[in-house]
Amino acid sequence: MPSRMLTVEGRRDVHEKVSVWKRAGLRVGFVPTMGALHEGHLELVRQALRENDRVVASIFVNPLQFGPNEDFTRYPRTLDVDSRMLDSVGCHAVYLPQVEEMYPSGADTHVVQEVAPKYLCGEFRPGHFTGVLTVVAKLIAQVAPHVLYLGRKDFQQVVAITRMVRHLDLDLELEVRACATVREPDGLALSSRNRYLTPEERTVAPTIKRALDAVVAKFAAGEHRVDVLEAHGRLVLDAASAFRIQYLQVVDSETCTPRVLGNAIALRTDTVAVAAYLGSTRLIDNVPLTGS
Ligand code: PAF
Repeated sequence: MPSRMLTVEGRRDVHEKVSVWKRAGLRVGFVPTMGALHEGHLELVRQALRENDRVVASIFVNPLQFGPNEDFTRYPRTLDVDSRMLDSVGCHAVYLPQVEEMYPSGADTHVVQEVAPKYLCGEFRPGHFTGVLTVVAKLIAQVAPHVLYLGRKDFQQVVAITRMVRHLDLDLELEVRACATVREPDGLALSSRNRYLTPEERTVAPTIKRALDAVVAKFAAGEHRVDVLEAHGRLVLDAASAFRIQYLQVVDSETCTPRVLGNAIALRTDTVAVAAYLGSTRLIDNVPLTGS
């Protein structure tokens, strides 16, 4: 079947197209991605299609959010397959900016946030959230949608972006929707990086979700001491003898601030988040303490 989806490469073109839709009274949803799409991205597009008249997705592997020793060059680039996937679910347009379009030489402004980026991944990936927030702020300005769709798997990213757009911060005129994490039947959260896993690693990877579930179950059973909950989750991961844990922490769901002091008590509104290497692949996941 011939493609119905529009492909746009220039920022002015995407802005113009969306402006035409908005002038016609249409509501526009936007799904930013780095490509290597999977069912989790498609669910974001489907939700955006249910809630809007037009949906734009972007694909841009953002160099600014990768550290010097991270996987920018080997990050999977699967543009043809991605375009077919977006088209197959009915996405109206895909925006494919080039690096020179996004960061022309002389570009001199970055979005630096103070609180959420300090913790969790921010401790291990300096500059990562400045890269994410800068590109997302630019994409929002370029596309100018009504609603932005993000996956909850990237919990800290959702927190940082939600705080960036709110009235206290940059006052960006749009709503942010955080959509449920999509998982494999064995619990592994879908991620573009799962394709790096060897078959052996893939069999162990669902332990991450089991560790999170174990923390949630212990909390539900009445254990609210943060250090005990975190130790319990780490024990589950350690038992697999395969993970190099970066963090497994109970944090405030609005700010990502860890509950670390003395006899800290976990709250029902908190989130338990984890990042761990399995071989050379870094996996992240999270669940609210009330479970999901
Ligand atoms: O989640 C991602 O894929 C990226 O961090 C995003 C939001 C597209 C910004 O580059």
